[in-house]
Amino acid sequence: MPRVKFIGGPDGERVVEAESGITLLELAEEHHVKMGSACGGVCACSSCHCWIREGEDSLEEASEAEEDRLDMGFDVRPYSRLGCQVQVGDADLVVELTEESLQTWYNEHPEHRPDKG
Ligand code: FES
Repeated sequence: MPRVKFIGGPDGERVVEAESGITLLELAEEHHVKMGSACGGVCACSSCHCWIREGEDSLEEASEAEEDRLDMGFDVRPYSRLGCQVQVGDADLVVELTEESLQTWYNEHPEHRPDKG
């Protein structure tokens, strides 16, 4: 079973096992990893923007719709993907959360903001 290491953000590294075919957003939500999902995972925003640091070759290529949405993102890099569109393949991945995604997650969960109170 492939393993996905999430890096970046306030929680440090998280390594989780993943069923092939699960999306990175589904996996993040399952394991309480702070990946934003403003549109609910339907490729209509860029809040699940992440960087695939390792294992990118094992993934399906981005669709035109995903590329279009990524064009609206911040700090988009050649290894940028949308977490709700990426399905885990059969190889391990290293996935870095972006500031854009973290900020959306905090907007969705303001009670977890470190500066709260
Ligand atoms: S959650 Fe909106 S595009 Fe992924």
